[in-house]
Amino acid sequence: MILSIISAIANNNEIGMKNELLWDLPIDMKHFRETTTNHPVIMGQRTFESLGTDSNGLAGKPLPNRRNIVLTLDKNFERDNVETYYSIEELEKALNDTMGKDEEAFIIGGGQIYKLFIEKADRLYITHVNEEFKNADTFFPIIDKDKWGKISEDKHIKDEKNIYDCNFVIYKRK
Ligand SMILES: NC(=O)c1ccc[n+]([C@@H]2O[C@H](COP(=O)([O-])OP(=O)(O)OC[C@H]3O[C@@H](n4cnc5c(N)ncnc54)[C@H](OP(=O)(O)O)[C@@H]3O)[C@@H](O)[C@H]2O)c1
Repeated sequence: MILSIISAIANNNEIGMKNELLWDLPIDMKHFRETTTNHPVIMGQRTFESLGTDSNGLAGKPLPNRRNIVLTLDKNFERDNVETYYSIEELEKALNDTMGKDEEAFIIGGGQIYKLFIEKADRLYITHVNEEFKNADTFFPIIDKDKWGKISEDKHIKDEKNIYDCNFVIYKRK
């Protein structure tokens, strides 16, 4: 299995505030959807709950066309169309048992979960958002350039719909 992390991060590694994103960038939403569709997506319970409301009125709506996997310490957490694990070990065993060697799974956040997996990931798909957000309360871990090599980048200049410049970078573990 290839384990990848996908995140959009600002100039000081800011990724969120009050359990929401810090920006509305349709171009990054499209990139996220295209990159992760048909792959398992793994997230913390807080990120899951930030994804809208399900048909039962509960916080958290599974992302379509993806195997949705949530990590939580809450043994009572249960949602339709979501696979839940209560430890990293349990999650890793399930992935190893169900995924082929060339199949890719994506860690999609948030801050706590990125921190748990950055030392285990093979690739990072980072959207660098060229702005600073003083009110952020959640951050991506430092990307150590001695450990990660840039293998591609795709720069986009801001426009009417996307108000910050951004750069879609893929890093591979050296
Ligand atoms: N910019 C981006 O690309 C991006 C992407 C995703 C999210 N975000 C942002 O990030 C923020 C959310 O991040 P966050 O750090 O607050 O929360 P999070 O990482 O999404 O989820 C944290 C939760 O994961 C569970 N957890 C943590 N460690 C665990 C472990 N060892 N085993 C099992 N479960 C574990 C716990 O759930 P329980 O409390 O249920 O036990 C914990 O509360 C939001 O602002 C969101 O918008 C940004």
